[in-house]
Amino acid sequence: MGRGAVGSGMFYDPVESSFYSWCVERLLRSAAAAPFLGAGIVELGAGTGLPIIEALSRCEATVTVRGFERDPESLRVARRLVAMKAPPGYTVEPGDFFEHGVHGPELVAVANPPYLAAPPDDPGTPELWGGERGSGVTCRLLSGPFDVVMLMVASIADPLAVIDHAEASGYLVADWCVRPIVFGRHSRAAGVQGRLEELRAQGRAFSSDAGYLLAGVTWQRAGMPPGGGDPNADVLRGVMTAASAAGWSR
Ligand SMILES: C[S@@+](CC[C@H](N)C(=O)[O-])C[C@H]1O[C@@H](n2cnc3c(N)ncnc32)[C@H](O)[C@@H]1O
Repeated sequence: MGRGAVGSGMFYDPVESSFYSWCVERLLRSAAAAPFLGAGIVELGAGTGLPIIEALSRCEATVTVRGFERDPESLRVARRLVAMKAPPGYTVEPGDFFEHGVHGPELVAVANPPYLAAPPDDPGTPELWGGERGSGVTCRLLSGPFDVVMLMVASIADPLAVIDHAEASGYLVADWCVRPIVFGRHSRAAGVQGRLEELRAQGRAFSSDAGYLLAGVTWQRAGMPPGGGDPNADVLRGVMTAASAAGWSR
């Protein structure tokens, strides 16, 4: 669990991918997001495609979702599963989301983005690397053109900087939910743990010996200049830092 993967470059984790799916479902059912869903949703990193397939079929939604996946093996699997399960309106397209996914008609973006902090010079698993603090892809998404963004945010990936970046980009936290994630094969790797140690010392990663917290956070454009404060963001900051409180275990 926690950044587990199947196959070489392909990511699917029963706990984490299901939680992401559930967060997408929550977004699909949300009254606040409804006015923005008419032009569909765009997704960074479909992986196997299962999270969106399951979310769409559980709530029988007719909203269109365009997923982008740049890992060829994941793309093959996602396309096969989409063809088999035929969820109405879900397509998975090849390529880099930032090249192909940000110029479409969609006002809403979703992702369980790569968030492991990359140890320098480690070839590792690029599909799961979120830059040297883990927050690179997340912050790039929050710099995009979308009115509503639902992202999985990890307490080990500079969460305070992510929340600050969203606020500076003009977003308010509209909704969030959180669950613990046990360190898995990739997040337990020596290089990643070494990098996390450094980030913990800098107040950029929060975790216990067993694992960390993962939040599904929905941000909505505020329609006013940033800087007015956001009480929901303050609560979320407190929750993410609590991941390092002693006492929770697997
Ligand atoms: C953590 S996995 C999540 C996969 C799936 N959404 C899930 O939750 O099971 C992140 C996925 O994003 C893909 N990815 C990362 N950066 C991308 C980009 N810029 N454009 C398209 N796909 C990307 C990776 O190949 C990987 O499959």
